[in-house]
Amino acid sequence: MYTRILGTGGYLPQTVRTNADLEKMVDTSDEWIVERTGIRERRIAGPDDTAATMGAKAAAIAIKTAGLEPSQIGAVICATTSSKNAFPSSACEIAGILGISDVPAFDVAAACAGFSYAYAMAHSMILSSMCDNVLVVGADLMAEACDPSDRTTIILFGDGAGAVVLGKSDEQGTLAVKLSSDPSFAPLLKLPFPSRDGSDAGHSYLYMKGNDVFRHAVVVLSRLVTQTLEMGGISPSDLDFLVPHQANLRIIAATARRLGLDMSQVIVTLDRQGNTSSASVPLALDEGIRSGRIKRGDMLLLESFGGGFAWGSALVRY
Ligand code: COA
Repeated sequence: MYTRILGTGGYLPQTVRTNADLEKMVDTSDEWIVERTGIRERRIAGPDDTAATMGAKAAAIAIKTAGLEPSQIGAVICATTSSKNAFPSSACEIAGILGISDVPAFDVAAACAGFSYAYAMAHSMILSSMCDNVLVVGADLMAEACDPSDRTTIILFGDGAGAVVLGKSDEQGTLAVKLSSDPSFAPLLKLPFPSRDGSDAGHSYLYMKGNDVFRHAVVVLSRLVTQTLEMGGISPSDLDFLVPHQANLRIIAATARRLGLDMSQVIVTLDRQGNTSSASVPLALDEGIRSGRIKRGDMLLLESFGGGFAWGSALVRY
C-alpha cells in the first residue's frame, strides 16, 4: 500500500502589499528587499479571512481536483500557528465549512515546517489503515503577527493557504518522509501568545534573529535533502523539481545548488507571495502543477524549515 497526492488547491487573499508599500511603512527599499530575500510583493488577509476560511477555500479546490466529494475525506489535518481560536481547531472549522463530519480533525503546530509535519501524519494514518483519503491543509496569517514598524520581519511574511488530498494508492507516490527538530535554537525565532496580564498591551510580535536563522536553515536543509533522497533510494539527478519552503531566495538557491539542480527545476512563489509559513509548500506545489510545469510521474522533493527549530520533507512521485 502506498500514498499518493490526488489533488491540490490554493487560496490567496486579494490585497497586495508591494515593496513600495513597505517603503512607506519602514526604513527600507525595494532594492534591499529584492536583493536580500527575492520578495517583491505578498498578499494580506482581509477582515473576514482566517486560517480556517482560507484553508477551506484551498481545500475545496484540492478535493475537487482529486475527483472526490467531501464525504470521501477520512481525516482533516490543518498545519497552522495562526488559528483564530485555540479551539475549535482550524481543522474542525474547515471540516464544518466543507460539510465533512464524523472524521478525525486536528491542527498541527510546527511553524513554517507545519505542512511537512501534517503531510507525514496523513501518510502514516493512511499506511496504518485509519483512513483512505486525508485532507492536508497549510494556512497561516503571519503578516499580522509582525510588528508593522519592524523592518526585519514585516518585509518577509504574507498570508495564504494551500491544500493537498493525500490518498491510498496501489502506485508508489510518497517514497520517504523525514521530520526533525532542535529546541536549542528556540530563542532565534519566536512568536509568543499575548500575555494574560496585559503587560504587552495585547501585542505580541514575531521575533527573529534573521542572519542566524538564515545560516542554520542553509545547513539543516542541506543535510535534510540529502537524508531524504537516501531514504527514498533516489539520486539528485532523478529529481524533477524541488518544492521548497519560501522563506528566502538565497536559502532556496543554496539548497538547489546542494542538489545540483538548475533553478528552472525549483518552484519559486516567494517573489509574489513572500513567506506564507505553513501554506508556502502546498501553495508552491499547487502553482507548479496548475502552471503545467509539474506533471504526473515527476519526482518531487518537498522541504520546509521554521521556528522550533522544526523541519521536514517528503520525497514524492507526483
Ligand atoms: N531594509 C533595509 N535594511 C535592513 C532591513 C530592511 N528591511 N532589515 C535589516 N536591515 C539592515 C540591518 O539593520 C543591518 O544593518 P546594519 O549592518 O547597519 O546593522 C543590515 O541590513 C544587515 O542585516 P542582516 O540581518 O544581517 O541581513 P541579512 O542579509 O541576514 O538579511 C533577512 C536579513 C531577514 C532577509 C535574512 O537574514 C533572512 O532571510 N533570514 C532567514 C529568514 C527565515 O528563513 N526565516 C524563517 C524561517 S521560516
